[in-house]
Amino acid sequence: MADLIVRDVHQTLGTVHILKGASFTAERGRITALLGASGSGKTTLLRAVAGLEQPQGGRIEIAGQAVLDSAAGLALPPERRGIGLVFQSYALWPHKTVADNVAYGLKLRNVPAAESKQRVAETLDRLGLGHLGGRFPYQLSGGQQQRVAICRALVYRPKVLLMDEPLSNLDAKLREEARYWIRKLILDLEICCVIVTHDQGEALAMSDNVILLQNGAIVQEGPPQQIYGSPATLYAAEFLGTNNVLRGAVSDGGTMIAGEGWTLRGTKQGAGPASSSNGTAIIRVERVAVADAPGPDRLPMQVEASVFLGDRWEYRLARGNLRLVAHGPAPLEQSEVWCEVPSRHVWIFPQAA
Ligand SMILES: Nc1ncnc2c1ncn2[C@@H]1O[C@H](COP(=O)(O)OP(=O)(O)OP(=O)(O)O)[C@@H](O)[C@H]1O
Ligand SMILES: [Mg+2]
Repeated sequence: MADLIVRDVHQTLGTVHILKGASFTAERGRITALLGASGSGKTTLLRAVAGLEQPQGGRIEIAGQAVLDSAAGLALPPERRGIGLVFQSYALWPHKTVADNVAYGLKLRNVPAAESKQRVAETLDRLGLGHLGGRFPYQLSGGQQQRVAICRALVYRPKVLLMDEPLSNLDAKLREEARYWIRKLILDLEICCVIVTHDQGEALAMSDNVILLQNGAIVQEGPPQQIYGSPATLYAAEFLGTNNVLRGAVSDGGTMIAGEGWTLRGTKQGAGPASSSNGTAIIRVERVAVADAPGPDRLPMQVEASVFLGDRWEYRLARGNLRLVAHGPAPLEQSEVWCEVPSRHVWIFPQAA
């Protein structure tokens, strides 16, 4: 069930058109990630859902109720939208205890003191903070502060939980853990959660559905495996993954790309022309392998360098003006090797002249 429906939201700030007709839905019990480069409009879109921005156009429904309808002049304030918000900075009150921070939203909503106390205790317990209710934010670690911020958003039992880069202030290890436990929490609570992130690993690992934004417009959406494995546009293909990006001339119905001293077979993607002097091929680095004998989809390449990455080696390979990066378990001599580039993983995007 879609607990959040966003239709054709337009937002102009000053003279800049920031959201250009954003539409998406987010389901109950699922995590939807808004992913995009810095400045693509993720925070602005989240703030529009929260009621912290006043879009010039569009309609937003939360749990079946319209909270924004520009045509009808309707725009409910944040506290009447049934949302919980977690900011990147956590935004805890420094002079209030953990319990008072969490209780604050209930007080604003006139929840009776006894009920408030019980709900605060329950929520703190659920996130493993039951013993810290009397502390002040400065007496907590970053990870604990983040949990308090999430408690504060959950305590009024929102229909939709909105989180803006909730993991970016944590160190790398805590971040990996938080991906897991936040996902588990949302699935257990069965609420609709929208998380903003610029980190593709986070979006892919945490969400059920990824919404990719580019310059204030949604360019693709789908489950993580689909958006990673079948990008619809060159932008989506390049934004996700670690890639070999090749430029060359495209021929043979878009299935061949060639540069100086090399030719690769591939699969045409997107709506471009069947041939073009100017095309781009994207190959995920993990799809390129090094072999020691010729075979289908293999071409001879020179190893220019082997770079140690800790858990594996990176090979820098060259042929004519073709440069490829591949990974493997052991260093390679500066010699000739066979490089396997399966044609179904060579995504060719021909550009119109
Ligand atoms: N109050 C404002 N006035 C004018 N322009 C703004 C304002 N707030 C944001 N912008 C612009 O809107 C665009 C989108 O900003 P937004 O903060 O939504 O991006 P973002 O995708 O969240 O980026 P980041 O990953 O850096 O947080 C940017 O170009 C930004 O400069
Ligand atoms: Mg942002």
